[in-house]
Amino acid sequence: MKRDELKESVDLIREVFYYTRRFKNDTFVIQIENSIIESDNFHGLIRDLAMLKESGINIVIVPGAHDHIDKILKQYNVKTSLVNGIRISTPETIPFIKMAAFDVANSVMTSLSRSKIPAVIGNWVSARGKGVIDGIDYQETGVVDKISKEPLDKVISDGLVPIFPCIGWNSLGKPYNISSRDLATAISITLKSSKLFFIGEHDKLGGNNQLNLKDAKSYRGYGESLVERAVDACEQGVKRVHLIDGRIEGVILKEIFSNSGVGTMIHSNAYEKIRPMEIEDITEVLQIMKPYIDEGILIKRTESEFKDLLSDYVVYEIDKKIHACGALHIKSDGIAEIAALATDTTSHAMGSGKAIVDYLINKGLQNSVQSFFVLTTRTSDWFESIGFTKGTVNDLPQWKREKYNEKRNSRIYIKKV
Ligand SMILES: CC(C)(COP(=O)(O)OP(=O)(O)OC[C@H]1O[C@@H](n2cnc3c(N)ncnc32)[C@H](O)[C@@H]1OP(=O)(O)O)[C@@H](O)C(=O)NCCC(=O)NCCS
Repeated sequence: MKRDELKESVDLIREVFYYTRRFKNDTFVIQIENSIIESDNFHGLIRDLAMLKESGINIVIVPGAHDHIDKILKQYNVKTSLVNGIRISTPETIPFIKMAAFDVANSVMTSLSRSKIPAVIGNWVSARGKGVIDGIDYQETGVVDKISKEPLDKVISDGLVPIFPCIGWNSLGKPYNISSRDLATAISITLKSSKLFFIGEHDKLGGNNQLNLKDAKSYRGYGESLVERAVDACEQGVKRVHLIDGRIEGVILKEIFSNSGVGTMIHSNAYEKIRPMEIEDITEVLQIMKPYIDEGILIKRTESEFKDLLSDYVVYEIDKKIHACGALHIKSDGIAEIAALATDTTSHAMGSGKAIVDYLINKGLQNSVQSFFVLTTRTSDWFESIGFTKGTVNDLPQWKREKYNEKRNSRIYIKKV
């Protein structure tokens, strides 16, 4: 194995250990579209879910049954219709819909048991009729009324995987057909799960790996209101919603354990933050900077140099893991240096570098700084792309000019705000 490949593998193993520890005892709610359940990839997906379960993550599965319901109804020659992608479930169709929904739930349970994961199909959902909307009577199509949290918590803490067929009952025991996507959203909100996955034939939203709620809202209407549900879940306490393409082999592991992001993660901004660096962060920050120091892109800093200028540094943290860092050195009136800017190798081009620069500029503005400079050997294009322009040594404040290393010959970039 070549050195680069070995390093990549070791980095990946470290990531896996980190995230396994990070997510231990968390709950992931996973909605799987019927087309994925019936595809060749499904057994691989279940095997991966079993691994997550064994590593201490609680799993809840909500299988979609759309295609299977269609198949059963066709087999028995029973007609239904769809309005805006929603099935109008007539009383005549309900026994067949129930049969199909439980069939699919059963096949998920069978697959899990092949991977030695105990699961249970249950009824923890109260539902009510969707009613008549814009003159359309949805008949026995229902909406989620309530998820029974306590019994569900008990099942989860007993180590079982709850499986939810897309059926809910009202208080009189009348069954309704409910959308598995709505069901998964309601479950994850009730459980305050750390993640909600929609696994289907979902493309990345606009090619994005990550979207905050504001940006996600511009994709409203995608995939029969998948984005609305994701936004809804995040606004009600679910930390992250992932839209992923179940046709990709190993997709769920790739999404969780690598930041390269095979799907789109929607998250609320509260969980993505830049904050002042603390002493405990130094080791992690040094690790982020190391590959760039080795390449000569960044200048080496010692632990004590960090400690001396601690308040100059900020870190970009998601899920208690630091992904980027930067510093603002204000040593003279009106002009300050942006330095030590780095994003970890797995988080490039996710906007964290720019977010740090914006944050530092804001911090400078609050301290009467109007001019910002950087010294760079290899990142000129990037600084230009975010509005910096080329300067000369004469643009530097006295204290920096005195220290300018002619041998390193860094380029100087300036931004006046
Ligand atoms: C430069 C750096 C901080 C940018 O952070 P980031 O979070 O990847 O940046 P953003 O997501 O805000 O922007 C990414 C864009 O910049 C581009 N980019 C990244 N590094 C670049 C470089 N050296 N030159 C030109 N463009 C660059 C990416 O291709 C991406 O373009 P895209 O949006 O068209 O895909 C990061 O790449 C890094 O840590 N580099 C190594 C350390 C470094 O150079 N620090 C600055 C020392 S002065």
